[in-house]
Amino acid sequence: MITDFISPHALRGQVAFITGGGSGINLAIGRALALLGANVGICGRTAERLDAGRKLIEAAGATVFTAVADVRDEIAVQDAVSACGEALGPIGFAVCGAAGNFVAPAEAISPKGFRTVVEIDLLGAFHAAHACFEQLRQTRGSLLFVSGGQSYVPFAYQAHVGAAKAGIDNLMANLALEWGRYGIRANSIVPGPIEGTEGMNRMGGADAAAIWKAMTPLGRMGKLEDVANVAAFLATPLASYISGARIAVDGGQNLTGSHVFNRAIGEALDASKGEAR
Ligand code: COA
Repeated sequence: MITDFISPHALRGQVAFITGGGSGINLAIGRALALLGANVGICGRTAERLDAGRKLIEAAGATVFTAVADVRDEIAVQDAVSACGEALGPIGFAVCGAAGNFVAPAEAISPKGFRTVVEIDLLGAFHAAHACFEQLRQTRGSLLFVSGGQSYVPFAYQAHVGAAKAGIDNLMANLALEWGRYGIRANSIVPGPIEGTEGMNRMGGADAAAIWKAMTPLGRMGKLEDVANVAAFLATPLASYISGARIAVDGGQNLTGSHVFNRAIGEALDASKGEAR
């Protein structure tokens, strides 16, 4: 018998915590969760971004907690998670979304550059998941990781990001396996090319939109709400038996591989250096 239907109050009384929640996809997820009744904690590196994010999430109906915390700093993340729990109540949905990216040929990425992205994306996700564990155990809540298409197939000039995103998906699966016994679910969401995000700006921006559309079976860029709505679904009881899943919200983009992107971005990099390819 079907007993649970989506309700506009599906997350009433719930608390979400989102790393990198002051902008982009993570902010859109915060707004979607707020529309379903959740209160939302966000952390990020700059107070200005967090303040701007706070206003938008509040406008969607939530009480909002903010904390300046770089996900690379495990103590700062632990403090933010504890303070969020004290301010809003125990966290029931933790989104490990903070990410860093730049486009560069593998030979031009310094060890520090590689390490920086792995520290933000992968280590930062572990810091947040680990810090949220006790609260999630209390609420029998769930974790959502924001992965990337680079986790499925190699994208040229994204060696550092691919390593980090593949690590995130493996971490997600491991936590789903280990923490299921506490009633904690863990899943990844894999956004495709989402228009208007900093990530897209770093990967060619509006100039690359035609390329992305050409390599996406649905023939369009994704919208912030395409991703946020799936994230919100995963937070609700409607997803109560989904754990360990890597869910692509990419218009089918990864079905086609990355070859069109590789050629186009390579030509753009060469052109910016004035080199013939
Ligand atoms: N090509 C090659 N190396 C690069 C680079 C590029 N375009 N951009 C940064 N790096 C390297 C730096 O040179 C440095 O290494 P080095 O000291 O050996 O030269 C290393 O990366 C760290 O850079 P730094 O600017 O000191 O780090 P940061 O902590 O200030 O910034 C980044 C982190 C590099 C990930 C930055 O892009 C960022 O802040 N991103 C956050 C936002 C974002 O990327 N959003 C999109 C998410 S999809």
